[in-house]
Amino acid sequence: MRSLLAVPASNAKALLRTLTLGCDQIIIDLEDMVTPENKESARANVRDFLAPSESFKKLSLRVNELGTKDAELDLELINSFDPIRISSIFLPKINSIDDVKSWSRKLPQNIQLEVQIETAMGLTKASKIASHDQVSSLSFGPADFMGSVGIPSKGPGKTWPEVDGILDYPLFQIIIAAHAHGKLAYDGPYFQTADYLGLTKAAYKARALGADGKWAIHPDQIYLCNEAFTPSEEEISDAKRIIDQYNQMLGAANAEGVVVDVATKRAAERLIERASFARDVS
Ligand code: GLV
Ligand code: MG
Repeated sequence: MRSLLAVPASNAKALLRTLTLGCDQIIIDLEDMVTPENKESARANVRDFLAPSESFKKLSLRVNELGTKDAELDLELINSFDPIRISSIFLPKINSIDDVKSWSRKLPQNIQLEVQIETAMGLTKASKIASHDQVSSLSFGPADFMGSVGIPSKGPGKTWPEVDGILDYPLFQIIIAAHAHGKLAYDGPYFQTADYLGLTKAAYKARALGADGKWAIHPDQIYLCNEAFTPSEEEISDAKRIIDQYNQMLGAANAEGVVVDVATKRAAERLIERASFARDVS
């Protein structure tokens, strides 16, 4: 998925609107985008929204943190659906594989679990967490991560200029942990919704680090995420040229002295796969 739009379940109108938007996946949020006093009505909205909704998009629900009363009420809601109308559950603030197992025991069998890594402890355990069979993706949560590590902020998700770029470090670790187990890896939200240039840079950087997509928290962010995570025509033709060169020369240098080995060919094939996924979902 290139763009995952998170929408507060407390906003019934916004929920309905998501079905007309160009995001690849919708995350209906019961957690931090919903204030404590609105949690109950948010759950009621989810019930109303999911009852009739036919969606061609992947629909997911983000629940509240394990061990809270709200998490128990979220579970009651999920287990009241028959059949289950969502493809996956986003689990926030996961610290260990035991947290994942604990959720897995309480949730419908075989539902995909998409884990947010957004605590210092979660980051140290990311690979083990990704190894759980039901886990299908890891996402970075920059705002919670900064709070957990004690990184002072200049606004949501923004570090001091002295350590500009430091959040690439946890993001890259999360991408490596997810891909080590064949799972998807997502960059988290960009909170300055009017800063299109900042979002574009962040999305291309995440793609350059190997992420599969990025969260969006405003409809205007969807297109930019889709763009960043869709291979360009130039990338596709470069990849095809690499595959052709490999097939013709099998590891020998070309006229410019460039060698294409099996690893390079494999990376080019992966890009072609990504491009055909982007075409299928567009
Ligand atoms: C997202 O959940 C974040 O904490 O940034
Ligand atoms: Mg968070």
